[in-house]
Amino acid sequence: MSILTGKRILLGITGSIAAYKGADLASKLTQAGALVDTILSPGAEKFISPLTFQSVTGRKAFTDAELWGGEAHVLHIGLGHSADLLIIAPGTANTLAKLANGQADTLLTITALATECPILIAPAMDGGMYAHPATQRNLRTLAERGVSFVGPVTGHLASGLIGVGRMADPHEIAGMAKVVLGRSLGRLHGKQIVITAGGSQEPIDPVRVITNHSSGKQGYALAQAALELGAEVTLISHPTALSAPVGAQLVMVNTVAEMLAAVLSTVEQADALIMAAAVADFRVKKVAENKLKKQDGIPQIELEAAPDILATVARHRSSLTRLKAVVGFAAESRDLLENAQAKLFSKKLDFIAANDISAQDAGFAVETNRITLLFADGKREILPLLTKNEVADIILARLAAILE
Ligand code: CTP
Repeated sequence: MSILTGKRILLGITGSIAAYKGADLASKLTQAGALVDTILSPGAEKFISPLTFQSVTGRKAFTDAELWGGEAHVLHIGLGHSADLLIIAPGTANTLAKLANGQADTLLTITALATECPILIAPAMDGGMYAHPATQRNLRTLAERGVSFVGPVTGHLASGLIGVGRMADPHEIAGMAKVVLGRSLGRLHGKQIVITAGGSQEPIDPVRVITNHSSGKQGYALAQAALELGAEVTLISHPTALSAPVGAQLVMVNTVAEMLAAVLSTVEQADALIMAAAVADFRVKKVAENKLKKQDGIPQIELEAAPDILATVARHRSSLTRLKAVVGFAAESRDLLENAQAKLFSKKLDFIAANDISAQDAGFAVETNRITLLFADGKREILPLLTKNEVADIILARLAAILE
């Protein structure tokens, strides 16, 4: 389940060639479980038909033909009032100008004026129109009123030129929709959360590294869940095959030293730290400057202890006045609970997620985890086999309870 499940989304489509991508967006939102009611502006109808949207959403798509029909009064107030979010994608320069001035001459602009739900706009227009001082002023006016924006991005424009004005990708818009909904409904609104994910890479020489099997899936799921609860998320990650959750501030690192530096520089402003990364405990003492060659024989590689990030944070904890909660993970192949309990205590954690990596269906690279949560006050919570997304939702709910 995502935050979109069961939410009523009003999708406004306006007169831009990007209107066809609005159908993809409608489909993505519907597949995520949202109830999507589409409103097409008269300009949008020149590019795409209401039937397209009805076909992908399974719900009625409205046009200005309804504006003067028998249901008109109910419609323009009713649509806006029952919505959780109004997305306008694409949003043309003309629509931005109307909204900035409170003009209400179409079903969509009337609805935008009548609704009290959050509004997210994905502008789409020619580069010159976007850069025009009038458009820029309209964007500022709307932003000051609390309207959120996603894009536009740089790319090939309908004019044939390359510039800023292309509508954000539907995947980005759907991701931002989750962030905006999270901010309006979520328990972690206003909280800053730092989350680490993935493994680490400790160099041996310029071409070789010591690493581990961590996929980053659990950390990325935690970041997505935190965003959907309204948090501002910094995701500190080792390179993974995953795409970063839309709305997270991504900091890429390779070594433990880089991850430690990134954590220390962000945790001062954070309300919570979740260390989901599987960080190296050992690193190469003297990294070879040049590639180690076969003809020089089998290298004797001496290791040293890598810094323990959670232990370092624990030592600084008294000066980190904003930091209210620290959560760790314990990846164990034996004596799960004893080892996790020792780490909870030694790393001064609020709670730890003990993960039995000896099980086939838990740990690195699979979609599920078997977790027991151990809390500083001695409470324990045994979770059943769950997807990493479900584990993330539970961990964030327990974290929110601590932060509240
Ligand atoms: N951790 C850390 N810095 C390290 C190693 C681990 O902050 N250099 C964090 C992990 O992100 C995790 C917790 O400490 O949240 C426990 O990690 P784990 O690898 O299970 O335990 P270790 O403390 O490294 O001990 P061991 O590997 O001996 O079990």
